[in-house]
Amino acid sequence: MGGGAEMKLDAAAEQALIDAAFAAAAQAYAPYSAYPVGAALLFEDGAIVAGCNVENASYGLALCAETVAVAKAFEAGRRGGLVAVAVAGLKADAEPITPCGRCRQVLNEIAALGGTDPLVLCASKQDVRRVLLSALLPHAFGPAHLA
Ligand code: THU
Repeated sequence: MGGGAEMKLDAAAEQALIDAAFAAAAQAYAPYSAYPVGAALLFEDGAIVAGCNVENASYGLALCAETVAVAKAFEAGRRGGLVAVAVAGLKADAEPITPCGRCRQVLNEIAALGGTDPLVLCASKQDVRRVLLSALLPHAFGPAHLA
């Protein structure tokens, strides 16, 4: 099945996913950047898996919120069925953040396994931007290339 944009989320489902991303951001370990981020993944069965950024005294080892959420989803046995993703930054007045390049690739792996094109909700306190993962990462390299 397709998933993604054609699988439009209603306003309540969108808000619940964004709320989960903000709740995860509140758990961020971001003492170096002071830029807490949360991500929440929505699956076809309604389950939400969230993650926050986890920084390190060795700065370059920081883990992004989306990557943590995807790793948790894999550990929970999920291999596809990704319908939507919310990414939220806690910094007041900030522009909605879009997933960094590495996270786009990490999200693509679990999306590609289930053949979905998830809707990505990029949220700040003031604004939400909606974009498909395929628009954030066109011509993605994925598992099919290695098949
Ligand atoms: N960050 C994320 O968690 N996700 C993104 O998509 C962008 C950046 C984190 C990494 C780092 O801990 C902080 O935000 C500042 O770059």
